[in-house]
Amino acid sequence: MKGKKIIVAIDGYSSTGKSSFARQIAQNLSYIYVDTGAMYRAVTLYCIENNFIGNCGLNVDKIIGNLKKINIKFVFNDKNGKSETFLNGKNIESKIRNVEVSNHVSAVSAIPEVRTQMVELQQEMGKNKGIVMDGRDIGTVVFPDAEIKIFMTAKPEIRARRRYLELLQNGENVTLQEIEKNIRKRDYIDTHRNTSPLKKADDAIILDNSDISIDEQMQWFEKIFQSVIKKDENDS
Ligand code: DC
Repeated sequence: MKGKKIIVAIDGYSSTGKSSFARQIAQNLSYIYVDTGAMYRAVTLYCIENNFIGNCGLNVDKIIGNLKKINIKFVFNDKNGKSETFLNGKNIESKIRNVEVSNHVSAVSAIPEVRTQMVELQQEMGKNKGIVMDGRDIGTVVFPDAEIKIFMTAKPEIRARRRYLELLQNGENVTLQEIEKNIRKRDYIDTHRNTSPLKKADDAIILDNSDISIDEQMQWFEKIFQSVIKKDENDS
């Protein structure tokens, strides 16, 4: 799967396996992979650690006022073959998927100023193409001209079970019910916020992976990739 470098934009609901799929595609294509959810999670962790989120909700003025102090980077770890999230020089990969961050990330990511800063950073990361980026607004806002746009979905109960098993593996003490509740709540906030709500781009292809295997999913992608590359060769 080599040749001309393109942008692959993957959007969709929480826990549809976007990140694993995007990472695998990037690996196969020798592209850069960017997990934009990790960026919003990093901002959320920063807000929690600095007490900008409390019992009374978010201190939006404080969050906006401190945005310029937030530096997010991805650093490739040779040992596990994954790119890891760094916040102001510290590896925060093991902290950003916990339940506390998950409970607040949709609210933080709904703040327009937070989105503007993240989108600028994402566009900079993809300016040379050869990138696979996953999130909620990649095909609609970040890269509206991406050559391939995929919109991933799966039944909420299937997504909850997947996330539950992942969290159990990470040693988190959670119940399936609370995970499903969190997923449904995040679906609602992500699709109803004013700025860049999660929605399928008109030219995105839907992938419902409720009942297909990871291998079938990759075969599906390879066919799309080949047809896009072939069309591009015919056009030029
Ligand atoms: O992909 P994820 O579940 O790690 O994303 C965490 C949250 O970040 C999700 O609830 C919505 C938000 N998000 C966003 O608003 N825009 C993106 N491009 C990526 C994530």
